[in-house]
Amino acid sequence: MKKITLFIVCSLIISSICYAGEGMWLPILLKQYNEKDMQNQGLKLSAEDIYDINHSSIKDAVIVLNDGMCTAEIVSDQGLLFTNHHCGYESIAEHSTVEHDYLKNGFWAKNHGEELPNQGMTAARLVYMKDVTSIILDEANKIKNEDVRAIRIKVLRDSLEKAEPNPNNYKIQINSFFYGNEFYLLAYEVFPDVRLVGAPPSAIGKFGGDQDNWMWPRHTGDFSILRIYTDKDGKPAKFSKDNIPYKPKYFLPISLKGVKKDDYTMILGYPGNTQRYLTSDEFEYNCKVHNPAVIEAMALQINIMKQDMDADRAVALTMAGDFASTSNSYKYMLGQERQLKQNTYILQQKEKEAKFMEWVNADESRKLKYGKIFDKIRDANEKLKTIEPAYSYVAYGFFGIKNIQYGLMFYGLHKNLENDKLSRQDIDSLVAPYKNKVKSYYEKNTVSTDKKVLASEIYLICSRVPEEKQPSILIKALSKYKKNDLKLAVDNYVNDLYANSPLLQSEANCHKFLGKISMKKLEKDPFFKLVSGMINYYFATLSVVESNVTQIRRENTRLYIQGLREWQSDKKFYPDANSTLRVTYGKVSPYIPRDAVSFKYYTTYQGILEKYNPQDPEFDVPSRQLDLLRNKQFGRYAENDTLRIDFLTTTDITGGNSGSPVMDAQGKLIGLAFDGDWESMIGDLVVDPKVNRTIAVDIRYVLWVIDIYAGAQNIMSELKIE
Ligand code: ARG
Repeated sequence: MKKITLFIVCSLIISSICYAGEGMWLPILLKQYNEKDMQNQGLKLSAEDIYDINHSSIKDAVIVLNDGMCTAEIVSDQGLLFTNHHCGYESIAEHSTVEHDYLKNGFWAKNHGEELPNQGMTAARLVYMKDVTSIILDEANKIKNEDVRAIRIKVLRDSLEKAEPNPNNYKIQINSFFYGNEFYLLAYEVFPDVRLVGAPPSAIGKFGGDQDNWMWPRHTGDFSILRIYTDKDGKPAKFSKDNIPYKPKYFLPISLKGVKKDDYTMILGYPGNTQRYLTSDEFEYNCKVHNPAVIEAMALQINIMKQDMDADRAVALTMAGDFASTSNSYKYMLGQERQLKQNTYILQQKEKEAKFMEWVNADESRKLKYGKIFDKIRDANEKLKTIEPAYSYVAYGFFGIKNIQYGLMFYGLHKNLENDKLSRQDIDSLVAPYKNKVKSYYEKNTVSTDKKVLASEIYLICSRVPEEKQPSILIKALSKYKKNDLKLAVDNYVNDLYANSPLLQSEANCHKFLGKISMKKLEKDPFFKLVSGMINYYFATLSVVESNVTQIRRENTRLYIQGLREWQSDKKFYPDANSTLRVTYGKVSPYIPRDAVSFKYYTTYQGILEKYNPQDPEFDVPSRQLDLLRNKQFGRYAENDTLRIDFLTTTDITGGNSGSPVMDAQGKLIGLAFDGDWESMIGDLVVDPKVNRTIAVDIRYVLWVIDIYAGAQNIMSELKIE
C-alpha cells in the first residue's frame, strides 16, 4: 500500500487537479496533495495553518456533531458554536412546547444560565489522524479468501485501536478509505455537554421549507447557535450545572468583507457518504430498481405525516424532527432520480469503463487482476433485482415507521427471555429498562399517525410484490380477512392489531403485559408476531444484499479503485466521504442551470420580500423582519445598500457537511454551508463542475439576525469580527 501512496505523491508533480472544486481531501495529505494548488487558487495560508497536530490550527475549530450528523465551528473563546438551523432542529423541537414554541418563534438565551442542555447531543474535535494502511494491508494482502481477509482486517483494526496510547481518553477509531485500499486511525475528543444558545424562528432558519429545499435561488438563514461545556478542568464531561464553557484551542475569526465572484473559498467539515466510484451497472440499478422503490415507500409516510401535522401544532412539534429528515431525504431521492433518468451520467460512465477495459486488456497480468470487475458487479446486481422492490419497501418503508421501531425492542426482549432457567425475579429485572422506553413511546404521541402509515406500507408491499415473494407473516395475517378488497383487509388487520395487542393499546396495558411477561406470552402477541415475522423476512433478503452488495463491493470496488489509480497515474484521487474530516476548496461562482437561464451567485433581502406569502407557512416572514427589511435597517452588514442572504461556491460537500464553515483565503468565516443545488442532486455519485454548487448562508446575514433582528448582544460580544 505504501507503494501506491508513494506512487501518487510522485504523480502529483506532473498532475493538475481534476476540476476546480471537486474533491473531499484528507487533511493529513493537504501538504503533499493540495497546498500548492490551493495557494495557486488564492489561499494565503499554509497546509499547517489548516491541519497541524503539534500546534493549534483551523481543524481545532471544526466540530462534528453526533458522530457525523452535522458539522459546527467554534466562533468564540467560550466554546460558542455556529451550525445550521436544520442541524439544531430536532433539539429545538424537543425544547419546544405549544406555549414555548422555539421552533416557531426562535430562542435566544440571555446568559449562560438560560442555555438549554440538548439531550444526547455530542460535539467532537479531531485531535489527530495517522496512516495505518501498511500495518493492516501487509497482513491482509497475504490472504486470498475475501471472507477470511475481512475478518483478519477487523481483528487488526480492533487490536490497533486498543493498542493506541490514550491517556486523555480520546475516542480512537480506524476507518477504511478507498474501499479497503487505505486505513487511517483517528482520535477524537468527545464533549457530551452541548447546549442550545440561540435559534432564529423557522421562518428565517427554514425559510422556503421543503419547496425551496435543495434549490437555488435561496433565501434561508439556516443557522443555530450551540455551546460546548466542560468540567472545571476543561475536560469533556456529562451535563452538570457546575460545568463551564469550553476553552478551545482555536476559534474562527469572522470577516464582514463578503464575497465576490471567483473569490477563493474553502470548507472543512464532515461529509457523510458519497459513492463516486459506482459502475454503470450500479447507476442503472439505482435508477431503475432501488430509487423508485424507496421513493414510493417514503412518499406514503410523508403524505400521511403532513396531513396530521397540519391539523395539530402539538402533533407537528412531536413529529417535526422525523418529518424534516424524511422529507429532506425524499426530495433528495427525487432530485437524484430525475438526473439519473437523463442517462448522460450512465453513458459517460460506460465510456469510461470501456477505456479502462482497453487499458486492462492490453496487458495479461492486468487482465487477470481487473478483467472481471464489471462482469461480477453486473451479476451481483442481477441477483439483487430478485429481491426488489420488496427489500426497499421493507427496509425504507416498513422499518422506517416509529411504531415498528418501537416493536423492534420487544424482539430484543424476546432474545433475552430465551433462557428457560430465568426466575420471575430475573425476568422482572430484564423487563425494567423496557418500561421507560414504553413510556417515551407513548409520550411522543404519534400513535394515530403511525397506525395509518403502517397500514399504507403493508398495503404497498401486498399490492406491489408478487405473492410468492411477499413476507409470509403478511400472507398469513391477511388470510383471515376478505381478500377481494385488499385495502379494507389491511385496514381491518391493522385495526385488530391495535385492538388486540396490549403492546399497542396503551402504556398502562403494555406495562401490565410486561409485568407478567414470558417468552410464550410474547410469542402469542399479534404485534410481536408481525415484527418478528418481518425481521425474519428482512434478514433473509438481507443475506442476498450482504453476499452480493457487501461482498462484491468489498472485493471489486477495491480492485476497481486500485486499477483506476494505476491507469490514471497522473490524477489525484480522493476517497469517498465516510464522516471523517475533509477539506474542499473552490471559488465563489454563479451557474447556468438550464437552457436560457443564468443564476447569480448571491441572493439579497429583496428575494425574501418577493417570496413573502403570509398564506403559505413556508414563505411567511416574521413581522419584525419585514419591517426591518422594508426600512433597509441593515446596519454594518449592508453591501451597496442591500443585505445579502445566501451565496454559491464550487466546493464539494454532502450530507454531514451541513453547518460547515465557509472560509476565505485567510481562513476567516464568511458563511455556513447548508445545502446543494437541484441541478447537482446526483453530486454524491458524480460531480459536474458546471453545475455542482454549495449553498451557503452569508455570515453577514447570520450576524444581522443575531444583532439587529434578535438584539442578542451577549452573543455578539463573544465574536471576533475582523
Ligand atoms: N437539504 C439540506 C441538507 O440535506 C437540508 C436543508 C434543510 N432545510 C429544509 N428546508 N428541509 O443538508
